[in-house]
Amino acid sequence: MCGIVGYVGSRPVTPLLLDALEKLEYRGYDSAGIAFMADNGIIIHKTRGRIADLRKIVDAATDDDDCTVGIGHTRWATHGEPSDVNSHPHLSRSKRVAVVHNGIIENYIELRHHLEAHGYVFSTETDSEVVSELIDYCYTGGDPVAAVRKAEQQLKGSYALGILFSDFPDQIIALRKDSPLIIGVGEGENFIASDIPAILKHTRSVFRLGERELAILTRKRVTVLDTFGNRVEHPIEHIDWDATAAEKGGYSHFMIKEIFEQPDAIAKTLAPRIKEDMSIDLGFKSITDDDLRGIDSIKITACGSAYHVGVVAKHFLKRILRIPVEAELASEFRYDDPIIDEHTLVIIVSQSGETLDTLYALREAKAHGARVVSIVNVVASSIANESEEVLYTWAGPEIAVATTKAYSTQLALIELFGLYMARVRGMLPEEEIISSIKALQNVPEGVQKLLDDVKSVQYIASLYFNCQDVFFIGRNMDYALSLEASLKLKEISYIHSEAYAAGELKHGTISLIEDGTLVIALCVYRPLLEKMLSNIKEVKARGAKVIAIINDDDVQTGTIADHIIRIPECTDITVPLMTIVPLQLFAYYIASLKGCDIDKPRNLAKSVTVE
Ligand code: M6R
Repeated sequence: MCGIVGYVGSRPVTPLLLDALEKLEYRGYDSAGIAFMADNGIIIHKTRGRIADLRKIVDAATDDDDCTVGIGHTRWATHGEPSDVNSHPHLSRSKRVAVVHNGIIENYIELRHHLEAHGYVFSTETDSEVVSELIDYCYTGGDPVAAVRKAEQQLKGSYALGILFSDFPDQIIALRKDSPLIIGVGEGENFIASDIPAILKHTRSVFRLGERELAILTRKRVTVLDTFGNRVEHPIEHIDWDATAAEKGGYSHFMIKEIFEQPDAIAKTLAPRIKEDMSIDLGFKSITDDDLRGIDSIKITACGSAYHVGVVAKHFLKRILRIPVEAELASEFRYDDPIIDEHTLVIIVSQSGETLDTLYALREAKAHGARVVSIVNVVASSIANESEEVLYTWAGPEIAVATTKAYSTQLALIELFGLYMARVRGMLPEEEIISSIKALQNVPEGVQKLLDDVKSVQYIASLYFNCQDVFFIGRNMDYALSLEASLKLKEISYIHSEAYAAGELKHGTISLIEDGTLVIALCVYRPLLEKMLSNIKEVKARGAKVIAIINDDDVQTGTIADHIIRIPECTDITVPLMTIVPLQLFAYYIASLKGCDIDKPRNLAKSVTVE
């Protein structure tokens, strides 16, 4: 939801900002802009469209000679349509203050009225313009930090801000609340960015700005102040990601690259936690085995695909732990007066660790005294920082908006956690736990096998890429997987698709099935295969074309479905991790045949830091 970047150093600032913004484009890509310090004040270039469009404008302008301080923004519109004028940075009318903002200013209308009463004039429909004008209004004594803090006292909502003052051409001020912001530390240069890939090329030394902390960046130093004006020292983290992990590396899209990275990502996530003697080391510091024995219910809460992980995990955890387990959308959880206490384990799932609904759900859980474990991919993100315990998925940076490797690593990790808890609580025979752990260890190899032969998926995609509607059906675990398969297809191909619990079809939805409607039937959950066969026959009788996803040894389903995709050698615990792979590929190949912008689907952003 918008990406921001800033640089103060001695290199030419505009190419650096444009390059960094390209790395953040996954966060929003309907408009972009930069502001930089020139001899005659702050210069702004901004436009509706992609960074490539902005680059053309900047290249044509040739007004950036010797400029080495600036800020930039790539936008995912929330308030006001994508347009040149609504793009960031926003420059105050006085031309003294330029601002890039990620987040939402909830009270912007009220602030706008207040400033209008003092003669301020607004030209955009955005909530963010109010920030530059408000800071300008508060900038009375020549002290930029005081002005920003004074303005902040009046802001409600979420914000990561990069701010330039024309009177202070050699510094950037940054401030954050409920929106992510990292500081990159270099030699004679310093950076701000919404996410690490933006600056990885220039520095691997970073830290995250804490809640409501303000940073003053000059070439020589970064000074961080808390709300009382006290200096704060953050330890520097060294980022050891391979810089190419954030590049496409020969693949046409990040999404297909990330699909193919799954064997490695799953192995990296599981291997360090499974010891030679088959014990599991989660590295918990605060939640003890006794605490886990005292848990009487589990709630998993997350958004989008991370929520779908929760739905799969719900079935699995319920089966092995025999306690109530629920999966709830984070955006609902928070406002549903959840029944949780210190005996509830709340599992938070988030790739980015910054999804605002999920962050607020986490805070709600903590406020009720629940024990909280988060499954997060981005180290030291807000959710990771605020959680009692964090289990990191070591999937590496995920750039494509449609998640793939984060989903599968989250699922693998939550299953491993389930086995740990089942062992602690004595819920499964030790032999079963050990064979399940071994099965998990074999997942990377199994996923690799599926990826080694993608031709049949490609072929089936080539038959159906023009279809208008797709229905995914399944029961129990298969239904949970259908939710993710359907989301994957619709978000990148724009084909209307729905996931239905197969038993529900005849309660209404089957009226939509007509000659040629595509139904994808997930039939890998063995206990309910017979029921699925009946459901396939029902839709076939109404003219549907059926692609069935089946276990390798299934000899029945192929006789009634139009096409089959086989999932090799699965156990209960590994089947969801394997089954999702051809479904991700199917979505990818369909979108690719349709010529869609796969890594940056319309209207979407990678990190949803607004409610
Ligand atoms: O970063 P998070 O895992 O918290 O993100 C949650 C959802 O926004 C995310 O899974 C979204 O649904 C993806 N576009 C799905 O591919």
